[in-house]
Amino acid sequence: MPTPIADGRPIRWGILGAGGIADTVSGDINLTSGNVVTAVAARHADRAARFAAKHGAARSYGDYRSLVNDDEVDVVYVTTTHPYHREHALLAIEAGKAVLIEKPVCLNARDAREVFAAATEAGVFSMEAMWTRTNPLVRQAQQLIADGAIGEVRGVRNEFGLGRAFDPKNRLYELANGGGALLDLGVYPATFAFLFLGQPDEVRTVGTLSPTGSDETVAMQWMYGDHPGAQLWTSALIHAPNEAAILGTKGWISFLPEAYRPTGLILHTDAGEVHTPDPLAGNGRGYQPEIEEVERCLRAGLLESPLIQHADTIAILEILDGARAAVGVVYPGER
Ligand SMILES: NC(=O)c1ccc[n+]([C@@H]2O[C@H](COP(=O)([O-])OP(=O)(O)OC[C@H]3O[C@@H](n4cnc5c(N)ncnc54)[C@H](OP(=O)(O)O)[C@@H]3O)[C@@H](O)[C@H]2O)c1
Repeated sequence: MPTPIADGRPIRWGILGAGGIADTVSGDINLTSGNVVTAVAARHADRAARFAAKHGAARSYGDYRSLVNDDEVDVVYVTTTHPYHREHALLAIEAGKAVLIEKPVCLNARDAREVFAAATEAGVFSMEAMWTRTNPLVRQAQQLIADGAIGEVRGVRNEFGLGRAFDPKNRLYELANGGGALLDLGVYPATFAFLFLGQPDEVRTVGTLSPTGSDETVAMQWMYGDHPGAQLWTSALIHAPNEAAILGTKGWISFLPEAYRPTGLILHTDAGEVHTPDPLAGNGRGYQPEIEEVERCLRAGLLESPLIQHADTIAILEILDGARAAVGVVYPGER
């Protein structure tokens, strides 16, 4: 088991990669009371130095290995694009570091199994950065359902359409960079359905490919026996409201956009509507609960978070592997 990190000092974060999400989440890390961005590494030293200056990191590196070997880093946040998650997570794990790995945790379930097994074997904490699962409104919905507020849950609807025009150099369409709607966006609706309905018995998938061969628009129907439980849709190309709903026998819960980071919850029953506003409004970008969950786990000496369990992350990737195969997407060099 990892040695618990004492309450008396902040958790020191090392940011691996200095791209878009690294920048956004680093701002939120520094907003929490128990965490601090300590170091950053990018493939170019000047880029890392600029990032360090912006986020107040004490050290910056022009290579990833130096970061994972930094003795004053407690947890490495892997923020590279998904084809590199496996390699960079293993680099950190082999250096004995806890890891938070951006979503999707790896390109496929096989790689995810390898990474989580390596972390567990090395006795270090690991987690996919599936922030939706730590969102307070999503957790409130779980509690409402446990309390019987909408009866038996029988359906989930969730969509994520980003509306990015086709551009072969855009990460979303670039196969060599893990491009495609399912892995980049569809992982959210899949995680949501898995959370509220569990493992489907069958997944029926239809979709279209972009000119690069990445999945452009995909619809999944998750079957539970002969019951069509979840309707999930994702598109790199098409704009969508990005709403979600959980449907029960006595009512339903709807989420205000964006469904992957809800900004409000409405409970609908025969008694009327109950609105819950966004508790995170006006305070960062919505990643603080995820950061605080990592902190909680590190202070408790855990190997995995009970909220974002390895087995669930792997099972969701297995479903996405199948959906991707159904629409005919193959990544170059995929193992
Ligand atoms: N949780 C969320 O809300 C959220 C939002 C957006 C994206 N993401 C996820 O975060 C990851 C990164 O997305 P992003 O939007 O931040 O991408 P990005 O801006 O393109 O940054 C990706 C980083 O990957 C690094 N990288 C290392 N090797 C690379 C290679 N051979 N080719 C290309 N890049 C390489 C680069 O790091 P250097 O700085 O070292 O050059 C780059 O800064 C993706 O897996 C994505 O799914 C999550």
